[in-house]
Amino acid sequence: MCGIVGYVGERPAAPILLDGLGKLEYRGYDSAGIAVYDGERIQMKKSKGRLKVLSELTHDGEIFPGHMGIGHTRWATHGEPSDVNAHPHFNADQSIVVVHNGIIENYLKLKKKLTAKGYEFVSDTDTEVIAHLLDHYYQGNPLQAIIKIMHRMEGSYALGIMFKDHPKELYAVRKDSPLIVGHTKDGCIIASDVPAVLKYTRDVYFIENEEIVRMKQDSMEFFNVDEESIEKESTHIDWDVDAAEKGGCEHFMLKEMYEQPKAITDTFSPRLKGKEIVIEELGMSDEDILSVKKMMIVACGSAYHAGVTGKYVLEGMARIPVEVDLASEYRYRDPLIEEGTLMIIISQSGETADSLAALRDSRSRGAKVLGIVNVVGSSIAREADNVMYTWAGPEIAVATTKAYSCQLIALYLLAMKFAKVRGTVTDQELEGYIEDLKRIPEQVEMLLNNKNRIQKFATRYLAARDVFFIGRGIDYAISLEGSLKLKEISYIHSEAYAAGELKHGTISLIEEGTLVAAVLTQEKLYQKMISNMVEVRTRGAFVLAVTNEGNGEVKRAADYVIYIPETNPYFTNSLAIIPLQLFGYYISVGKGCDVDKPRNLAKSVTVE
Ligand code: F6R
Repeated sequence: MCGIVGYVGERPAAPILLDGLGKLEYRGYDSAGIAVYDGERIQMKKSKGRLKVLSELTHDGEIFPGHMGIGHTRWATHGEPSDVNAHPHFNADQSIVVVHNGIIENYLKLKKKLTAKGYEFVSDTDTEVIAHLLDHYYQGNPLQAIIKIMHRMEGSYALGIMFKDHPKELYAVRKDSPLIVGHTKDGCIIASDVPAVLKYTRDVYFIENEEIVRMKQDSMEFFNVDEESIEKESTHIDWDVDAAEKGGCEHFMLKEMYEQPKAITDTFSPRLKGKEIVIEELGMSDEDILSVKKMMIVACGSAYHAGVTGKYVLEGMARIPVEVDLASEYRYRDPLIEEGTLMIIISQSGETADSLAALRDSRSRGAKVLGIVNVVGSSIAREADNVMYTWAGPEIAVATTKAYSCQLIALYLLAMKFAKVRGTVTDQELEGYIEDLKRIPEQVEMLLNNKNRIQKFATRYLAARDVFFIGRGIDYAISLEGSLKLKEISYIHSEAYAAGELKHGTISLIEEGTLVAAVLTQEKLYQKMISNMVEVRTRGAFVLAVTNEGNGEVKRAADYVIYIPETNPYFTNSLAIIPLQLFGYYISVGKGCDVDKPRNLAKSVTVE
């Protein structure tokens, strides 16, 4: 996820671009850049770091006098954050310049072809391919060149483009990445999202897939991929800037929960090639995979909870021993790393101090380290031997939702890959897993759309003092995360227990009216779970059950039931966590807590 902006009009473009980028920083903040055209020269400045670095370098845009320009705030996907990988990107003679939000999936193939034709690349980005591809097809007509490259590019894109020999025309096009355009008092503006334009216009056009826009100071024309002119209607936006930044949601946490279907798809789809799981970034041949005797997963907080799920899935599917540890414990326990141990460090930020220390410790003991990381170019990503990125995009809310969901997906893919190579699944089983995996995004969406029911339920528990989450097996792992989501943002005390442990102590805490959330998604454990639910219910607990559709028997032991759609038992965590995230969220909102920035917590824990 990145943010793009563009302006053509009467006013100097650079301050408008910087201002717009400031409103889009939530979409990415590892580097930023602008290119401004004054009719003679296209001047560009870009740099690694937050937008304020670029603002300082350009004296708030004052060094560039031109009246047309494009800008970008980056969340790295291809190529780590650096000055050279920052956008915009030029073609060789600097006559075409591009900003891009999205991922060009076939960029390596295109790069190879362009290199063979003599094009030289200076960055590691997929975007530079676009600039050279435009150059290759450009014969004086920008629209035709854009249409040609649209036929060649696979993946997603929203582009802002300037051509040096068309000094008063700004072009934009999109496919599967958002793009809006609008008339300002003195020109035209484009952006990835509404907040960037609200100061200049409240009437915007939402560009649809494969639509192209040509903007001049006083006109805006829309075209389809057949070069035909099309009519569009504008939409009036009445949100305030703050709400607009959150996509109309009250909080980033809610917005990020809603982004889960896309984040999950973005994480698995580049790694599914027909009936095969292809994880190139693992850097492991089949032989290397077969030489792995044991895995250790080390992480903190929610990432650790994803790891606990990973243990069940990897051991079950790939029949490989997996140990999971908290990074803060692992680093001081003088761990035994035998030959053939694959160490997996999971981290959204890639900067968590304990996880980083665990990584360094395990490398010094000779382990090969795989990072499962969200932030490209972060310390863990850089120091691990190999990195499997989760493509969740920037996560702003302190309580993780979409990054956690993507960590689960990465672990499922890893389990499927290892299972296939180790011969612990049949081709038919693997095909079934892939089909189930592909259904997760729409199932998550369905659960999110059911939020009103959970909101209503949550309002009954705003005054709760203690909540207990119970489950067995994978459902215990879900309980750990459900409990953390609730307590960290609502400040209600909650605990997760392996349901079989209740009678070894915890059950003494159950009083009349105590809420117990029971997760039971593993059919083979239904009866055991139902017995545990009956045990707490007879001691006065109110039992909320999260279970699979079709589990009619649960009603015998639950006061309130939330059903999740059918999926493979290994993947239920991805669905069952959704109502639990929503539950924590609505309790927090109902109690008037600071949902996105809970007290005492920070998004990135870079100290011990
Ligand atoms: C909870 C949460 C934290 C993080 C933990 C690890 O919602 O977000 O528990 O999971 O601090 O952070 P990363 O994944 O950045 O290493």
